[in-house]
Amino acid sequence: MNVLVLGADGYCGWATTLFLSARGYTVTACDNYVRRHCWDKYRLRGYPTVVAGENSPLYPVAPAEERLKSWRGLSGYEVPFVRAELDSFDEVYDLIKKTSPDTIVHFAEQRSAPFSNLSPQHALETVKNNTFSTYNLLEAIARINPAIHLVKLGTMGEYGYTPHKDVIIEGDIDFPKRPASPYHMSKCMDSIALEMMGRIYKLCVTDLHQGVVYGVATAETSMHRNLYNRFDYDGVWGTIVNRFCMQALCGVPLTVYGAGGQSRGFISIEDAIRCVEISIRNPAEPGVMVVRNQITEILKVGEVATLVQEAAKTLGINVSIENTYNPRIENENHLLKVSFGKFQTLGLTPHAMRETLVGTELKFLSRFSAGVDNHLLLNQSIADWRKHENNGKESDV
Ligand SMILES: NC(=O)c1ccc[n+]([C@@H]2O[C@H](COP(=O)([O-])OP(=O)(O)OC[C@H]3O[C@@H](n4cnc5c(N)ncnc54)[C@H](O)[C@@H]3O)[C@@H](O)[C@H]2O)c1
Repeated sequence: MNVLVLGADGYCGWATTLFLSARGYTVTACDNYVRRHCWDKYRLRGYPTVVAGENSPLYPVAPAEERLKSWRGLSGYEVPFVRAELDSFDEVYDLIKKTSPDTIVHFAEQRSAPFSNLSPQHALETVKNNTFSTYNLLEAIARINPAIHLVKLGTMGEYGYTPHKDVIIEGDIDFPKRPASPYHMSKCMDSIALEMMGRIYKLCVTDLHQGVVYGVATAETSMHRNLYNRFDYDGVWGTIVNRFCMQALCGVPLTVYGAGGQSRGFISIEDAIRCVEISIRNPAEPGVMVVRNQITEILKVGEVATLVQEAAKTLGINVSIENTYNPRIENENHLLKVSFGKFQTLGLTPHAMRETLVGTELKFLSRFSAGVDNHLLLNQSIADWRKHENNGKESDV
């Protein structure tokens, strides 16, 4: 099967590209490297390199094109790379025409809620980049080949984090959307476009509501240093479990925003890429959008901190947990009432966070703790939702 992976230089896209290639899929990788370069122009005074995304990873990773050369040498599998801007319809059209995919996996969006909340410019860039890329894909697929299966990465954050419905059933496309950031709002807008274009043009669309992804090492990316995946631990690009892991490994307190009773859906990177492959193997029917909740556990933020704290103890590291200033405007004590589990009925055997942290993640990451940038590690609440309370002025600028 011919699969086009969009956003292949990124965290989920890179791991997925190698996973699919190793399993015999014919893969084409695409990215515009915006995460590495172009978002620099949105750097604000007071938010140095961390906002740009280029210099924040725990260790340097070469661009996808170079890493794919190493992959070919190590695995024997050829994965061509195409640099394309998905917010340009012409580039999207040409890309699909040239690569003739059976399936497109679309990871290529601005994916940080904190980034999207730094300023009006960050918010608008996020909404523009994400909604344009998704809409361009839908238009191009409808024109070139409506049978192409589009597997699109959305977020559990589309449901909102304050309970407003007894239980949201997996697969429900009509849930009341309650995003809590411009980033999450862009995903809701994507979902409306996916459903509308899918229904009208009889497209095959799967919308994956992915939870917070954690971990970094997969079987393929750990094969060689040249194949490592990027890993972020700062307050803008790092996701919560990954940030806690690095805090633990550096022996600094795990900083829980507010009360820590916020519930979120989580999934390891290894399970996330398996879910994507399961989605590829189980395509949506034309005109009937499929929504799946791509999570394996629901945990409160405070519980996650405790899991990381306990996992660190197995390595002989004792760290404390601190409840700190919450830069987000959110309910700090709530349940996330959504059903999930369709991936398990389709063959996923999920890994628990506790085992993943102890078994692989902390050991892998501990090799790099000496290279941690303390400025990034200690400024975890750099993006502040409460800036509007300051008469709309950027509090840190
Ligand atoms: N990482 C998570 O915890 C998480 C959780 C839920 C959902 N998601 C979703 O999964 C997807 C992938 O997330 P990630 O963590 O791998 O993000 P990432 O930032 O690491 O990767 C995204 C990649 O897409 C590329 N890209 C962005 N806009 C582009 C455009 N217009 N044209 C071409 N390339 C473009 C970037 O350069 C980057 O390499 C995103 O859609 C994100 O919203 C991620």
